[in-house]
Formats: sequence, structure tokens, C-alpha cells
Amino acid sequence: MTMTAIPSQRPAQTLLEVRDLHIAYGKAEVVHGISMDVRAGEFVVILGRNGAGKSTLMHAISGLVPKRSGSVHFDGRDLSDAGPRDIVKAGIVQVLEGHRVFHTLSVEDNLLIGTYAVTPRGDRSKLDRIYTMFPELADRRHQMASRLSGGQQQILAVGQGVIGEPRLLILDEPSGGLAPIVIDRILAVASSLCQSGLAILLVEQLVEKALRNAHYGYVVETGRVVAAAFSGELREGDLLQRVYLGGAASVPLATSLEEQV
Ligand SMILES: Nc1ncnc2c1ncn2[C@@H]1O[C@H](COP(=O)(O)OP(=O)(O)OP(=O)(O)O)[C@@H](O)[C@H]1O
Ligand SMILES: [Mg+2]
Repeated sequence: MTMTAIPSQRPAQTLLEVRDLHIAYGKAEVVHGISMDVRAGEFVVILGRNGAGKSTLMHAISGLVPKRSGSVHFDGRDLSDAGPRDIVKAGIVQVLEGHRVFHTLSVEDNLLIGTYAVTPRGDRSKLDRIYTMFPELADRRHQMASRLSGGQQQILAVGQGVIGEPRLLILDEPSGGLAPIVIDRILAVASSLCQSGLAILLVEQLVEKALRNAHYGYVVETGRVVAAAFSGELREGDLLQRVYLGGAASVPLATSLEEQV
């Protein structure tokens, strides 16, 4: 697998801009003022332990959970109060945790569902692009999704996400429950989608694998960003070890948050 070239600075154009986002379930606030960016063409990873608030943050960006306060802009447009459908139409698609696809539908019908948000009827013209990108789906287009392996289902979930041609793809723990070789394939797919111009926002527990593919990373600890840096810097620093091995980590890396968010 080739390593992603590490750029020396972030692209100037901001695609996704999250500012001071607070998110609560009922009265319990679990995200306490997160700010983060995805720049045009970037592959950004969100790292953090179980329960840190990573999925909650992604769901709020996608409009699946309400935001208590703060803002989300996408390509300059204010999506802070937009619903999930408008957010998909604006170009943000999330592949949810647990490679969820419709088990009783064929591979092809699962892919067509991915086009409904953009066109009211399934748009078959987009299928060929997906089959070229993911030959394992082309070979199984008429099979029930339930007959696919876990890795193939995750590829199908990604295909379902990208068939509508979003501009930002959010992947929440695509590695979940999959074998290492399959995880490498999924991350390679994400990298190649990024190289073709799609911005990627990945949530991942597999720190080393994620940082090998991403350009930039944020570390989230109990609902706050505690570090933001290029993936190479995150790999070299000891902060991640402290976060994952239990030490309290509220010390941002030298590349300051003010500079980078
Ligand atoms: N629907 C919900 N209702 C109430 N609390 C929730 C809900 N979903 C998540 N939480 C709580 O919010 C906090 C953040 O959870 P979240 O799922 O965002 O974490 P995460 O970083 O994605 O964790 P993991 O790595 O395990 O997926 C946790 O304390 C969790 O228990
Ligand atoms: Mg999660």
C-alpha cells in the first residue's frame, strides 16, 4: 500500500467549517464546543476513545442529531439549521457505523437507493462508474446484500454513499468488525476517492492505519478537541499514546488549535 504524501500546509479553501459546536442528548451535553475544518481535497481523521463524542459530532454535521449551539458551514453555506435531506443535497454524505445496507435488496438496488436523495427515481446512469470503481460489486450486482461478506457490505455502503456524487464523504469507523486486509482495502478506497477530488472525513479507532491515509487529524477527548495536527505530527508525538493509554490529555500540540481549526 502506498503512503499518502503528507502536504506541508493545508489547502486554502475550506469546505466544511464547524465552529464551537455543542451537542446534547436531552440535558446531557456530550460535545462541548468543537471547532474543526475539512479543506478542499483533504482526508481528515477524527480520533478518540470510545464515547468521546465522535459519532455524535458526525451525526450533528449530517443533521441526524440536533445541535445545541454553534455553526456548520459547507462551501460557504450555513447548514447549522438544515435537515439531513438538505445536507445530503448540499453534498455531504455519511456512511454510518456498522456497514448498514439493506440485506433483503440486491447490490444494485442498494446502490440505486444511494441516488434517491439526489434524483427522485433511481438514476441508473451512475451505476457504471461505481462498478468500475468497485469491481467486487460489479461481479455481484444481482446478489442479495445479505450474501456479501462484511467487507463487501462495507464497500457497498461506501458505493451507496458516493453514487450520488457528494463533495464530502463521512465514514464512521468503517473498519468495525472487519479483517485487517479488508480494512486496508476500505482505507485505500477512501484514499483513492480523495485523490479523485472527494474530501473525506473519517472517524477511526485504528490510529496507525488511519493516520497513514489521512492528511490531517483531530483528537477528541470527552467532547473536546485536544489536538489538531498533520497526521505525520500526530504519529510522531506522544499525545495519542497519552489519550489512548488513559493519561489526561488536554494539551494541544505545538501546531496550535487557533492556527489550524
Ligand atoms: N442516542 C444517545 N442518547 C444518549 N446518549 C448518547 C446517545 N448516543 C451517544 N450517547 C452518549 O454520548 C457520548 C458520546 O457517544 P458517541 O457515540 O458520540 O461516541 P464515539 O466517540 O462515537 O464512541 P465509539 O468510539 O464507541 O463509537 C457517550 O457518552 C454516549 O454514551
Ligand atoms: Mg462512534
